[in-house]
Amino acid sequence: MPLVTTKKMFEDAYKGGYAVGAFNVNNMEIIQGITQAAKKLNAPVILQCSAGARKYASHEYLVAMVKAAADQTGLPIALHLDHGPDFETCKSCIDGGFTSVMIDGSHLPYEENVALTKQVVDYAHAHGCVVEGELGQLAGIEDDVNVSAEDASFTDPDQVYDFVTRTGVDSLAIAIGTSHGAYKFKPGQKPQLRFDILKAVEEKLPGFPIVLHGASSVNQDDVKTINEFGGQMPDAIGIPEDMLRQAASMAVCKINVDSDIRIAMTAAIRKHFTENPTHFDPRQYLTPARNAIEGVVSHKIETVLGCGGKA
Ligand code: G3H
Ligand code: 13P
Ligand code: ZN
Repeated sequence: MPLVTTKKMFEDAYKGGYAVGAFNVNNMEIIQGITQAAKKLNAPVILQCSAGARKYASHEYLVAMVKAAADQTGLPIALHLDHGPDFETCKSCIDGGFTSVMIDGSHLPYEENVALTKQVVDYAHAHGCVVEGELGQLAGIEDDVNVSAEDASFTDPDQVYDFVTRTGVDSLAIAIGTSHGAYKFKPGQKPQLRFDILKAVEEKLPGFPIVLHGASSVNQDDVKTINEFGGQMPDAIGIPEDMLRQAASMAVCKINVDSDIRIAMTAAIRKHFTENPTHFDPRQYLTPARNAIEGVVSHKIETVLGCGGKA
């Protein structure tokens, strides 16, 4: 099946009260682990590549592998640029086979974010591609850019209508208390999300798809496994699954997950090497890693996203 945009995925998700998972991919095993889970549960899926992923694996390999996954599974799969930093990167993805791009102008002054996002939307729409914008700033680390909790800012619901109508974006990432990486809350801090902001956004733009970044839940068993087998991860706290489920039943149609996959892979590989110190065939340690990814994604589809059976 050819790659699809997220347009119909989001229309169906909004109406159905569920969300589609957007998982970051950097290599073949990650793509296979995610799409094997999606295939078994008949779920639509978004595979997203950051600028760092394109630098690591190269644009051509990523596009070819994602297309192979779509052909092999027959699933509706969207290939999305995650956190597009500038117009040129977005253009290169649009020209090179992606079906969706994010332009992340969230760090810019408001009017500059509007202008840059509109420039990308105009180009993308003329080429059959959809665009995700971002308003408000999440804390955490992405592509080595570290936004401190003090510099993060919640989305102002009063700006959302103006931003969406002036830019023409197809979906919008908002900041309601999630953050990138594995350390989302301080030890002892009670995880909280600003559902009041999400509700206000929903009321201002009924039917418009909202995106949640920084939505890993951080499986404590995986963290324990990493530390049991020689790792040193301090207390890592993610977004509680019931909160993500609630967001998915509201206007959130896309939930981004990267850290949970990284943690599951690391746990599986550390365990494998401790138990099998003489192994040196990459297939021996990448198989449990790929299986662990499949497990993470299956769990997300069934307990958080609710998109099983919706492909
Ligand atoms: O939000 C960012 C994603 O986790 C991608 O991370 O930029 O290190 O590839 P990356
Ligand atoms: P996590 O770090 O919570 O997995 O978030 C990933 C993300 O938002 C990618 O854009
Ligand atoms: Zn993100």
